[in-house]
Amino acid sequence: MNWDELYAERARLMKTSEIREFFKLTEQPEIMSFAGGFPSAEFFPMEKVSEVMDELITQEGRSALQYGPTEGNVELRKYLAAKMTREGVPAGVDNILITNGSQQGMDLLSKVFVNPGDVVIVEEPGYVGGLGAVHNYQAERLPVPLDAEGLQTDLLAARLRKLKMEGRTPKFAYIVPNFQNPTGICMSFERRKKILELAREYNFLLIEDNPYGEIRFEGEPVQSIKSMDTEGRVIYLGSFSKTFIPGIRVGWLVADESLIQKIACAKQATDLCSNSLGQRMACRFADSGYIDHHVSTLSERYKAKRDLMLSCMDKYFPAGVTWTVPEGGFFIWVTLPEGMNARALLLKSIERKVAYVDGAGFFVNGNGKNTARFAFSEACPDKISRGITILGKLMHEEMNIYSYPEQVEGLAL
Ligand SMILES: Cc1ncc(COP(=O)(O)O)c(C=O)c1O
Repeated sequence: MNWDELYAERARLMKTSEIREFFKLTEQPEIMSFAGGFPSAEFFPMEKVSEVMDELITQEGRSALQYGPTEGNVELRKYLAAKMTREGVPAGVDNILITNGSQQGMDLLSKVFVNPGDVVIVEEPGYVGGLGAVHNYQAERLPVPLDAEGLQTDLLAARLRKLKMEGRTPKFAYIVPNFQNPTGICMSFERRKKILELAREYNFLLIEDNPYGEIRFEGEPVQSIKSMDTEGRVIYLGSFSKTFIPGIRVGWLVADESLIQKIACAKQATDLCSNSLGQRMACRFADSGYIDHHVSTLSERYKAKRDLMLSCMDKYFPAGVTWTVPEGGFFIWVTLPEGMNARALLLKSIERKVAYVDGAGFFVNGNGKNTARFAFSEACPDKISRGITILGKLMHEEMNIYSYPEQVEGLAL
């Protein structure tokens, strides 16, 4: 079959992310991998899950194995409405839609809002799953660079003015304000306020994706953008993947009731409903207060991994290499000296059994060739220390070559 001839136009654009392809290579057990942004499976509360699963099947097995409402399990939605309200986002059950992870939220929002050619503002660098979701619906992605305070709203304002002169308005901006994937950066309160003001002024929506916000190691939590929203302009995505377990695929979307109904129509055609068993399990864990307790222990345990990775980077990475110091989440963003190629370095480091993700895949326009994402979430302490030490040595070797180009040929021989 000549599939290419048969594909819809949008399907021709769909590509598997290079980053995910690389994971296959890096997921071999002998590799010290900082590539995948997975939670640590060692932190999954296995015994408790087994106990609750038993109870669930005994007490409500038949309904837990049945289809459920498209909007999601009503008890879970009630819990999430109360949680969002506690967090400064007044919400009722009708403002909550359960999704198969927040990734599905991004897909459904793109399905509902994006016409081919619509402009969508994205972070640069940005989360590949978000970049991919809007791309699959033929959006034109407009990247706006980040700095230490998150998305640079002055640059955004300039781009919005230019777009306006062309008679165009973005449909929405997709942002991850807390411990962003891939940089670990937390957007400042001022920038959050500013982006909401710009969204009002230029009339676009904001999608606030917050899977990492609760995994905070230090510093004060910053108010969500949704909590400052008085018009329903911000759509919030939450997830149990990082605070509990990703395998149940339970996330949620918070929005105006009428939008929730529209998204439910879109979801009906996608999957009818989210995982009934997983939702009931999440509900039992959340409602009993277990997840809140679990998150606080997780934060301590992930902090230990972050501290270890940072201290190894301090010790072993050469001068000229810089990195972010995230106050939470899973990721450290590394910048190599200008002109050094993170992909070329990765290929060599894989030979020494160490892996990370080079940064170019997080950029829409092929920038960021000297950047890389390091996840400290999954690797065990031993792999973190050994891996970063080996990589530090490799960087020293590479940078000598870089600093003394006349030696390159000699060494290649
Ligand atoms: C920023 C961001 N959003 C969404 C997701 C997807 O999470 P979920 O498992 O809830 O679909 C991830 C996963 O890594 C992520 O980093």
